[in-house]
Amino acid sequence: MSFRIETEVVHGGQHPEKLTGALTPPIYQTSTFAFENVEQGAARFSGNEAGYMYTRLGNPNTDLLAKKVAGLEGFSGGISTASGMAAVANTILAAAKAGDSIVVEDTVYGGTHYLVEQDIPKLGIEVIRVDAVDLNALEKAVKPNTTLVLIETPANPTLKIIDIEGCAEIVHKKGALLAVDNTFSSPYLQRPRELGADIVFHSATKYISGHGDVLAGVLCGEKDFIRSASTLAAHYGWTMSPFNAWLLLRGLKTLAVRMERHCSNAMTVARWLERHPKVKTVFYPGLESFPQHDLAKKQMKDFGGIVSFEMKGGFDAGKALMDHVNLHILAVSLGDCDTLIQHPASMTHAGMGTEEMKEAHITPGLVRISVGIEHVEDLIGDLNQALEKIH
Ligand SMILES: Cc1ncc(COP(=O)(O)O)c(C=O)c1O
Repeated sequence: MSFRIETEVVHGGQHPEKLTGALTPPIYQTSTFAFENVEQGAARFSGNEAGYMYTRLGNPNTDLLAKKVAGLEGFSGGISTASGMAAVANTILAAAKAGDSIVVEDTVYGGTHYLVEQDIPKLGIEVIRVDAVDLNALEKAVKPNTTLVLIETPANPTLKIIDIEGCAEIVHKKGALLAVDNTFSSPYLQRPRELGADIVFHSATKYISGHGDVLAGVLCGEKDFIRSASTLAAHYGWTMSPFNAWLLLRGLKTLAVRMERHCSNAMTVARWLERHPKVKTVFYPGLESFPQHDLAKKQMKDFGGIVSFEMKGGFDAGKALMDHVNLHILAVSLGDCDTLIQHPASMTHAGMGTEEMKEAHITPGLVRISVGIEHVEDLIGDLNQALEKIH
């Protein structure tokens, strides 16, 4: 990055379009690209000439987005994918083959959990789960055939923080790669590469977009890794659409200002909830009461927009809160301008048994808020009136 991140999100990688001077890049909504002649087609396919051929293999909008996010994360290369899950799959499949093992932190996003529990082992890749808060346990889990260690920090829904630098040291000593799901922080709050990560990926559906209007992923790494990951992306076809890339580039311009508001609103909401008599515990890395507050302070610029809390009244109180909020939107996902609220035990995790729920750190009264960018007093007013109705 040649400028500060607030400037890079606006200007990075973007230049007025040559033909018309358009400041905003045109949407290259095309599946294919015409060649001037057979020789040019041949040169492009053989890699002897740079240029586009077919959107599954590359497109100016998706390439610009990947380049821009990779730049913000401090990497030389990136790939835009159709969803965050495609970025997770792309990372794993590019880093491991049959006979290898991968180590996956035990509190990863539910979709990642099911992918590594149900699908990846079918490919002959062993999956080892570990609580990477315990770096000794991580060291023991990494085997000679381990090629990849995958962590997510802060993790959903308890905001557990993993020491990226500590993990990188162990993983590199053992000759494996460290991948970090940076969805919750965005490159504005946390840059895992500076702490030793080899690969960083995002569900760009969340803060990178910021507007809840696309499903998208971005994967960042260095040249060799990106080259093999790109081949896989072309073969599996999990390419992002040009229009989605265009929307994401638009969203990305306001990342810094959005993140600042998400963080300040979340801190105010967390402090207010912490004092509320109907709330038992608040999980927010910015609170001094949060057990890993110091580690969060060390590796994050600010503490993010997600606040989780445990209601004293347990399951019934958590569920009732969902019925009484008005401004908070009852929805999954996170990172939108709009504040979203959910009660995992009665919603996303309702189908799980008690043991499985415990493993996912879901308690009956746990509520998660993705704090948006509205006026914080309106958010607190809505929570206040809803909590007053719960007995
Ligand atoms: C941390 C994290 N990683 C990955 C994903 C998957 O992303 P997507 O829904 O864009 O496929 C999500 C989705 O919620 C997520 O929260």
